[in-house]
Amino acid sequence: MKIGDKESNYAIRSGTIGPDVIDIRKLYAETGCFTYDPGFTSTASCDSALTYIDGDEGVLLHRGYPIGELAEDSSFMEVSYLLLNGELPSKDELESFSYTISRHTMLHEQLMQFYRGFRRDAHPMAIMCGVVGALSAFYHDSTDIADPEHRRISSHRLIAKMPTIAAAAYKYSVGQPFVYPDNSLSYTGNFLRMTFGVPAEPYEVNPVVERALDRIFILHADHEQNASTSTVRLAGSSGANPFACIAAGIACLWGPAHGGANEAALNMLREIGTPDKIPEYIARAKDKNDPFRLMGFGHRVYKNYDPRATVMQKTVREVFDALKVNDPVFEVALQLEEMALNDPYFIEKKLFPNVDFYSGVILSAIGFPTTMFTVLFALARTVGWVAQWNEMISDPGQKIGRPRQLYTGPTQRPYVPVDKR
Ligand code: SDX
Repeated sequence: MKIGDKESNYAIRSGTIGPDVIDIRKLYAETGCFTYDPGFTSTASCDSALTYIDGDEGVLLHRGYPIGELAEDSSFMEVSYLLLNGELPSKDELESFSYTISRHTMLHEQLMQFYRGFRRDAHPMAIMCGVVGALSAFYHDSTDIADPEHRRISSHRLIAKMPTIAAAAYKYSVGQPFVYPDNSLSYTGNFLRMTFGVPAEPYEVNPVVERALDRIFILHADHEQNASTSTVRLAGSSGANPFACIAAGIACLWGPAHGGANEAALNMLREIGTPDKIPEYIARAKDKNDPFRLMGFGHRVYKNYDPRATVMQKTVREVFDALKVNDPVFEVALQLEEMALNDPYFIEKKLFPNVDFYSGVILSAIGFPTTMFTVLFALARTVGWVAQWNEMISDPGQKIGRPRQLYTGPTQRPYVPVDKR
């Protein structure tokens, strides 16, 4: 590469699959120039062996296994083990892992007091940010990130406690008492009971809903270096404890351009209301002067169908049939998808439904309010964040993340006392 009168050479590195990278770590030292890539559209921030995405082909692999096969044949606990350890577990390994996770589902009783400090109408994601960040005040015996045993325990604690924290956020918002974990249930069944069970009567987990929600958790488990995962890695690169890092990831996920899109997508579908209103909203999405976007459509990486959306759409039908739901919003979603996919604007810009387009339809049918949708996304993504955090901490080459900038402010100038301005 020639910059000015200086010729510099930079190595090309190849992964196992996917685009090669130009190793520019010496660029600034050799040329005095930075690269410029706001939004990191062309930047690889790390090496990772967890998840591979081919956006053009609509491929998503976790440790090499296609998401469609994992969603169909695996369980969230099994996928969690796979992401953390690199291989699918044996039957004994899965039983032992699930048992370990089930032994961390309870929260320190003092933590339950945190909820009472929030207004009842607080957004559950605000509660998640607060309570998850506060975990580091309770579990000092697993915050030494240099100690692999501390990292293992804190990883298990985060995966295990997220459902309890999330369910308690819902209970607090509806004024019902917290329901403690029942470790005789599956990970997802336990969450359903803590969310929808009440002390006044027994709660029967619906196996179709349990399976559908477990599949939704699988679809949200990890997704390469997305915004919230990059936030967790950046927070972790300073040596912050894992609980603080995951709280940072939750805050980032909340944005409507990211994990908040599932809540925004269902609100949009409800606002559209009937199929005859769809053309008006498609026109708005195409209008450069209108900030409105079709929520649940488009993706930084997928320029083809998001393979998770395909599984989601199939799962909607299963849940609707099982619960005998007849919500017109699904019909609106199907027709909106059909019309958008045949519209030149969406075709030219390669905008397809993403994981968030259908998830809200299912979660609403199960009984979750829209404000809980991103909470469920955070619950599931915790295993991905934790696995990525562990991978970063274990990387011998990792250092604190510290990007530079293109400075566009004023050059140096002398201070002017206020009576001279
Ligand atoms: C998630 O990164 C991940 O992996 C995230 C995620 C994960 O699992 O972690 O997959 C989860 O966040 C899914 C995305 C959920 N967000 C939404 O559904 C919100 C709606 N979508 C968009 O805001 C947008 O598509 C993004 C944010 C998802 C992607 O934005 P990019 O890659 O920065 O693309 P862009 O904004 O530059 O858009 C390219 C063009 C633009 O038009 P031009 O300026 O080139 O004329 O496409 C247009 C955009 O205006 N466009 C849309 C659109 N999305 C992009 N136009 C209408 N409706 C949309 N939804």
